[in-house]
Amino acid sequence: MIKFDFKTYTNSFINQEEFNDLYNKKNEMIEKLKNCKMTGWMKPINQDWVTNIKKCAQNIKNNFDCLVVIGIGGSFLGSYSFSKMFQKYFDDKSFPVIYAGTTLSSKYLEELQRHLEHKNFCLNVISKSGSTMETNVTYQILKDLLKRKYSDEELKSRIIITTDKSTGPLHEEAMVNNYQSFEIPEDIGGRYSFLTPAHLLPLALNYNIDDIIEGYYEGDRLVDIAYEYAVTRKLLFNQHKVVENFCVYEECMAPFTEWLKQLFGETEGKEGVGILPTSTIHTRDLHSLGQFVQEGNKILFETFIKITNSDSFVEYNKQELHRINNIVLDSVVKAHYSGGVPCLEIEMTELDIENVSSLIYFFMLSAAFSALLFNVDPFNQPGVEVYKKEVKQALEK
Ligand code: PA5
Repeated sequence: MIKFDFKTYTNSFINQEEFNDLYNKKNEMIEKLKNCKMTGWMKPINQDWVTNIKKCAQNIKNNFDCLVVIGIGGSFLGSYSFSKMFQKYFDDKSFPVIYAGTTLSSKYLEELQRHLEHKNFCLNVISKSGSTMETNVTYQILKDLLKRKYSDEELKSRIIITTDKSTGPLHEEAMVNNYQSFEIPEDIGGRYSFLTPAHLLPLALNYNIDDIIEGYYEGDRLVDIAYEYAVTRKLLFNQHKVVENFCVYEECMAPFTEWLKQLFGETEGKEGVGILPTSTIHTRDLHSLGQFVQEGNKILFETFIKITNSDSFVEYNKQELHRINNIVLDSVVKAHYSGGVPCLEIEMTELDIENVSSLIYFFMLSAAFSALLFNVDPFNQPGVEVYKKEVKQALEK
């Protein structure tokens, strides 16, 4: 179960009349969202994918020692952040999945090649456009590594391509070489592709994807509250709260805050508007950015993600440590609010697969609503093209 409180610690910043005016547009906004072209992520999942993903994952586990996932942005952060939340900190026994494709660092790529040299690995390259530079550079380098060891025939079982259903260089590559492939549908963009093969295939190696799918669609019940969240954010923005700081109290949720930054950053940061998403991991960052939040420039509000119960039990001073962690969270909310920082709270009963999957859907809905409230297109990211053009020109010189 997930509970939301967007009122208690925002109260003194929100004008109730303005809130009601915007909140009353809910049905209009839901319609507007449904009428957007890129909303395939709100539709039922294709059951054939589920069957094929499970088969493919089993095949990988039976035949290889590890899977290398290559992708960037929305094509990797969903499954990466999800799996980090459920892995063990130490002595993790899950099937090894290496995430690559997010860097042009030669240090990283040289070490990765060396690491993989004597491993029995396969690749899953994920790119909707099929033309993303970082993804392609990593793919070519690791494909060459495979080519040095295996025949073209063998490559067919070691390369899995997840890309647009009908266009793009990777689609071509899969067709020409007869590589196994999965589709990212036309009406689903990268950061909204959590419930597509882009994320479900890597996740299927270690998790029951039926639980993920069930949890995700449970999120459907959160449409109203997702809109309330979007409205609250927008009204805080109108009060010059232009930064949203996501606060988590589990180190394993740090990558999830990266997913949140990517989702909100690319969805609403355009045409000179949007709220800048940042994150702090507590209690670690209370000893760094915590100072700024408490006493610095009052440009931000915070969204806390709390976990009510923990499976792990540690006793400290005759008290449960998880309880102490949550007491700290509650105290920080009060302290920051008293320092002029509005605080929103999301509370999951447990950090489990169903809750996190619902939360992912909730955030995707909220991000899309937020963009619509800012009057910008939630589903494009034209700004990202600008650096790509510069790079292209520089490389052609
Ligand atoms: O969310 C998005 O749409 C982007 O972050 C993309 O996922 C990212 O740029 C990678 O694009 P592609 O999947 O085309 O390689």
